[in-house]
Amino acid sequence: MQQELRPTTIVGNWKMHKTIHEARAFIQGLLPIAQSSLSHIWLAVPFTAIYASATEAHGSRIAIGAQNVHDMDEGPYTGEVSGSMIKEAGASFVIVGHSERRSLCHESSRLVNRKAKSVLENGLRPIICIGETLAQQEAGATRDIISIQLTQSLEGFSEAELRKVIIAYEPVWAIGTGKIATPALAQDIHSFCRQVISNIWNHDTAQEVSILYGGSVKPDNAAELIREKDIDGLLVGGSSLSLESFCRIIEFCNNNIS
Ligand code: PGA
Repeated sequence: MQQELRPTTIVGNWKMHKTIHEARAFIQGLLPIAQSSLSHIWLAVPFTAIYASATEAHGSRIAIGAQNVHDMDEGPYTGEVSGSMIKEAGASFVIVGHSERRSLCHESSRLVNRKAKSVLENGLRPIICIGETLAQQEAGATRDIISIQLTQSLEGFSEAELRKVIIAYEPVWAIGTGKIATPALAQDIHSFCRQVISNIWNHDTAQEVSILYGGSVKPDNAAELIREKDIDGLLVGGSSLSLESFCRIIEFCNNNIS
Protein backbone atom coordinates (compact mmCIF):
# COMPACT_ATOMS: atom_id res chain seq x y z
CA MET A 1 0.00 0.00 0.00
CA GLN A 2 2.63 2.47 1.08
CA GLN A 3 4.86 1.41 -1.79
CA GLU A 4 2.01 1.94 -4.28
CA LEU A 5 1.25 5.40 -2.93
CA ARG A 6 4.84 6.48 -2.49
CA PRO A 7 7.45 4.47 -4.37
CA THR A 8 10.83 4.37 -2.62
CA THR A 9 13.23 6.87 -4.16
CA ILE A 10 16.99 6.95 -3.60
CA VAL A 11 18.54 10.24 -4.69
CA GLY A 12 22.28 10.80 -5.02
CA ASN A 13 23.27 14.45 -4.55
CA TRP A 14 26.74 14.80 -6.02
CA LYS A 15 27.09 18.48 -5.03
CA MET A 16 30.17 20.00 -6.71
CA HIS A 17 31.71 16.66 -7.64
CA LYS A 18 32.26 14.73 -10.88
CA THR A 19 33.22 15.83 -14.35
CA ILE A 20 31.29 14.73 -17.45
CA HIS A 21 33.71 11.85 -17.90
CA GLU A 22 33.34 10.71 -14.29
CA ALA A 23 29.55 11.03 -14.41
CA ARG A 24 29.35 8.84 -17.53
CA ALA A 25 31.55 6.16 -16.00
CA PHE A 26 29.49 6.14 -12.78
CA ILE A 27 26.21 5.79 -14.67
CA GLN A 28 27.56 2.96 -16.82
CA GLY A 29 28.41 1.11 -13.61
CA LEU A 30 25.00 1.85 -12.09
CA LEU A 31 22.90 0.73 -15.06
CA PRO A 32 22.81 -3.02 -14.27
CA ILE A 33 21.80 -2.35 -10.65
CA ALA A 34 19.16 0.16 -11.74
CA GLN A 35 17.56 -2.32 -14.14
CA SER A 36 16.60 -4.68 -11.33
CA SER A 37 16.02 -2.11 -8.57
CA LEU A 38 12.66 -1.86 -6.82
CA SER A 39 13.57 1.66 -5.69
CA HIS A 40 13.60 4.57 -8.09
CA ILE A 41 17.15 5.86 -8.59
CA TRP A 42 17.72 9.56 -9.15
CA LEU A 43 21.02 11.41 -9.54
CA ALA A 44 21.35 15.17 -8.94
CA VAL A 45 24.44 16.04 -10.94
CA PRO A 46 26.30 19.34 -11.61
CA PHE A 47 24.75 21.46 -14.39
CA THR A 48 27.68 20.69 -16.68
CA ALA A 49 27.05 16.94 -16.48
CA ILE A 50 23.24 16.94 -16.95
CA TYR A 51 23.18 16.45 -20.71
CA ALA A 52 25.86 13.76 -20.80
CA SER A 53 24.34 11.96 -17.78
CA ALA A 54 20.83 12.05 -19.24
CA THR A 55 22.15 10.71 -22.55
CA GLU A 56 23.99 7.92 -20.77
CA ALA A 57 20.94 7.05 -18.66
CA HIS A 58 18.48 7.32 -21.55
CA GLY A 59 16.03 4.42 -21.66
CA SER A 60 17.11 3.19 -18.22
CA ARG A 61 15.43 3.53 -14.83
CA ILE A 62 17.87 6.24 -13.68
CA ALA A 63 16.50 9.80 -13.60
CA ILE A 64 18.86 12.76 -13.84
CA GLY A 65 18.28 16.10 -12.11
CA ALA A 66 19.85 19.43 -11.15
CA GLN A 67 20.85 20.72 -7.72
CA ASN A 68 19.53 24.27 -8.12
CA VAL A 69 17.59 26.49 -10.53
CA HIS A 70 16.78 30.17 -10.99
CA ASP A 71 13.16 31.17 -10.36
CA MET A 72 12.83 33.14 -13.63
CA ASP A 73 12.69 31.50 -17.03
CA GLU A 74 15.12 33.86 -18.77
CA GLY A 75 16.62 37.31 -18.38
CA PRO A 76 19.67 39.30 -17.34
CA TYR A 77 20.78 36.96 -14.53
CA THR A 78 24.47 36.34 -15.19
CA GLY A 79 25.58 32.88 -14.20
CA GLU A 80 22.09 31.50 -13.57
CA VAL A 81 20.31 28.53 -15.18
CA SER A 82 16.54 28.25 -15.71
CA GLY A 83 14.10 25.36 -15.42
CA SER A 84 13.48 25.24 -19.17
CA MET A 85 17.24 24.97 -19.81
CA ILE A 86 17.56 22.20 -17.28
CA LYS A 87 14.62 20.36 -18.81
CA GLU A 88 16.01 20.65 -22.34
CA ALA A 89 19.32 19.25 -21.11
CA GLY A 90 17.45 16.07 -20.14
CA ALA A 91 16.73 16.48 -16.42
CA SER A 92 13.46 15.43 -14.83
CA PHE A 93 13.84 16.88 -11.33
CA VAL A 94 15.58 19.68 -9.41
CA ILE A 95 16.69 19.95 -5.77
CA VAL A 96 15.64 23.30 -4.31
CA GLY A 97 16.38 24.85 -0.93
CA HIS A 98 19.26 22.58 0.03
CA SER A 99 20.63 23.75 3.38
CA GLU A 100 23.98 24.57 1.77
CA ARG A 101 22.18 27.02 -0.51
CA ARG A 102 20.02 28.33 2.33
CA SER A 103 23.12 29.07 4.42
CA LEU A 104 25.82 29.89 1.82
CA CYS A 105 23.57 31.72 -0.66
CA HIS A 106 20.99 33.05 1.84
CA GLU A 107 18.05 31.39 0.11
CA SER A 108 14.78 31.93 1.98
CA SER A 109 11.74 29.64 1.94
CA ARG A 110 9.90 32.32 -0.11
CA LEU A 111 12.59 32.06 -2.80
CA VAL A 112 12.49 28.28 -2.56
CA ASN A 113 8.73 28.52 -3.16
CA ARG A 114 9.25 30.54 -6.36
CA LYS A 115 11.95 28.16 -7.55
CA ALA A 116 9.75 25.11 -6.90
CA LYS A 117 6.90 26.76 -8.84
CA SER A 118 9.20 27.39 -11.79
CA VAL A 119 10.36 23.77 -11.64
CA LEU A 120 6.75 22.55 -11.77
CA GLU A 121 5.81 24.96 -14.56
CA ASN A 122 8.61 23.46 -16.63
CA GLY A 123 7.25 19.95 -16.13
CA LEU A 124 9.99 18.91 -13.71
CA ARG A 125 9.65 17.64 -10.15
CA PRO A 126 11.08 19.67 -7.26
CA ILE A 127 12.76 18.06 -4.25
CA ILE A 128 12.27 20.70 -1.56
CA CYS A 129 14.80 20.43 1.28
CA ILE A 130 13.94 21.47 4.81
CA GLY A 131 15.69 20.99 8.15
CA GLU A 132 16.72 22.61 11.39
CA THR A 133 20.20 23.67 12.50
CA LEU A 134 21.89 22.27 15.59
CA ALA A 135 21.16 25.48 17.54
CA GLN A 136 17.48 25.31 16.57
CA GLN A 137 17.31 21.66 17.58
CA GLU A 138 18.99 22.34 20.92
CA ALA A 139 16.54 25.18 21.54
CA GLY A 140 13.66 22.72 21.02
CA ALA A 141 12.51 24.61 17.92
CA THR A 142 12.64 21.77 15.36
CA ARG A 143 8.89 21.48 14.79
CA ASP A 144 8.40 25.25 14.56
CA ILE A 145 11.19 25.55 11.98
CA ILE A 146 9.94 22.59 9.95
CA SER A 147 6.39 23.90 10.00
CA ILE A 148 7.45 27.39 8.82
CA GLN A 149 9.77 26.06 6.12
CA LEU A 150 7.11 23.68 4.80
CA THR A 151 4.29 26.22 4.88
CA GLN A 152 6.31 28.94 3.14
CA SER A 153 7.99 26.65 0.61
CA LEU A 154 4.67 25.09 -0.43
CA GLU A 155 2.51 28.21 -0.34
CA GLY A 156 -0.04 28.48 -3.13
CA PHE A 157 0.41 24.94 -4.46
CA SER A 158 -2.65 23.12 -5.77
CA GLU A 159 -3.25 19.52 -4.70
CA ALA A 160 -2.13 18.34 -8.14
CA GLU A 161 1.11 20.33 -7.83
CA LEU A 162 1.73 19.08 -4.33
CA ARG A 163 1.52 15.47 -5.52
CA LYS A 164 4.49 16.13 -7.80
CA VAL A 165 6.58 17.62 -4.99
CA ILE A 166 9.07 15.58 -2.99
CA ILE A 167 10.10 16.79 0.44
CA ALA A 168 13.55 16.00 1.84
CA TYR A 169 13.98 16.32 5.59
CA GLU A 170 17.66 16.97 6.15
CA PRO A 171 18.62 18.08 9.66
CA VAL A 172 21.48 20.51 9.03
CA TRP A 173 23.49 19.04 11.92
CA ALA A 174 23.47 15.66 10.14
CA ILE A 175 24.69 16.82 6.72
CA GLY A 176 28.24 15.76 6.02
CA THR A 177 28.95 15.38 9.75
CA GLY A 178 28.60 11.64 10.23
CA LYS A 179 25.93 12.35 12.87
CA ILE A 180 22.67 10.79 11.88
CA ALA A 181 19.14 11.23 13.14
CA THR A 182 17.99 8.01 14.77
CA PRO A 183 15.33 6.23 12.70
CA ALA A 184 12.79 7.01 15.46
CA LEU A 185 13.60 10.73 15.43
CA ALA A 186 13.52 10.89 11.63
CA GLN A 187 10.20 8.99 11.57
CA ASP A 188 8.77 11.41 14.14
CA ILE A 189 9.65 14.47 12.03
CA HIS A 190 8.50 12.83 8.79
CA SER A 191 5.16 12.03 10.36
CA PHE A 192 4.98 15.64 11.63
CA CYS A 193 5.67 16.92 8.07
CA ARG A 194 2.80 14.80 6.79
CA GLN A 195 0.57 16.22 9.51
CA VAL A 196 1.47 19.80 8.54
CA ILE A 197 0.66 19.03 4.88
CA SER A 198 -2.57 17.31 5.91
CA ASN A 199 -3.62 20.35 7.98
CA ILE A 200 -3.11 22.73 5.04
CA TRP A 201 -4.43 20.47 2.26
CA ASN A 202 -5.98 17.17 3.33
CA HIS A 203 -5.19 13.69 4.57
CA ASP A 204 -5.27 11.94 1.18
CA THR A 205 -2.93 14.40 -0.49
CA ALA A 206 -0.54 14.25 2.46
CA GLN A 207 -0.44 10.46 2.12
CA GLU A 208 0.76 10.79 -1.47
CA VAL A 209 3.66 13.17 -0.85
CA SER A 210 7.03 11.41 -0.70
CA ILE A 211 9.26 12.51 2.16
CA LEU A 212 12.92 11.56 1.92
CA TYR A 213 15.49 11.59 4.72
CA GLY A 214 18.96 13.04 4.16
CA GLY A 215 22.05 13.66 6.28
CA SER A 216 24.97 11.22 6.65
CA VAL A 217 23.09 8.31 5.04
CA LYS A 218 25.51 5.40 4.62
CA PRO A 219 25.26 1.72 3.70
CA ASP A 220 25.23 0.78 7.38
CA ASN A 221 22.28 2.97 8.36
CA ALA A 222 20.16 2.97 5.17
CA ALA A 223 18.18 -0.18 5.95
CA GLU A 224 16.98 0.91 9.39
CA LEU A 225 15.91 4.31 8.08
CA ILE A 226 14.00 2.99 5.09
CA ARG A 227 12.01 0.58 7.27
CA GLU A 228 10.27 3.53 8.96
CA LYS A 229 6.73 4.01 7.74
CA ASP A 230 6.97 7.68 6.74
CA ILE A 231 10.49 7.57 5.29
CA ASP A 232 9.89 7.14 1.57
CA GLY A 233 13.46 7.33 0.36
CA LEU A 234 16.89 8.77 1.01
CA LEU A 235 18.84 11.81 -0.19
CA VAL A 236 22.45 10.72 -0.16
CA GLY A 237 25.39 13.13 -0.43
CA GLY A 238 28.89 11.82 0.35
CA SER A 239 27.96 8.13 0.03
CA SER A 240 26.57 8.67 -3.47
CA LEU A 241 30.00 9.59 -4.82
CA SER A 242 31.31 6.04 -4.66
CA LEU A 243 29.52 3.57 -6.92
CA GLU A 244 30.14 0.81 -4.42
CA SER A 245 28.56 2.56 -1.42
CA PHE A 246 25.66 3.98 -3.47
CA CYS A 247 24.87 0.51 -4.85
CA ARG A 248 24.98 -0.97 -1.35
CA ILE A 249 22.50 1.67 -0.15
CA ILE A 250 20.19 0.81 -3.06
CA GLU A 251 20.51 -2.90 -2.29
CA PHE A 252 19.74 -2.41 1.43
CA CYS A 253 16.69 -0.32 0.53
CA ASN A 254 15.43 -2.87 -1.98
CA ASN A 255 15.70 -5.58 0.67
CA ASN A 256 13.81 -3.53 3.25
CA ILE A 257 10.92 -2.06 1.31
CA SER A 258 7.65 -2.82 3.05
P1 PGA B 1 25.55 13.83 3.25
O1 PGA B 1 24.76 14.97 2.44
O2 PGA B 1 24.90 12.51 2.88
O3 PGA B 1 26.97 13.91 2.77
O4 PGA B 1 25.40 14.13 4.70
C1 PGA B 1 23.38 14.92 2.25
C2 PGA B 1 22.92 16.13 1.51
O5 PGA B 1 23.51 17.21 1.70
O6 PGA B 1 21.97 16.07 0.72
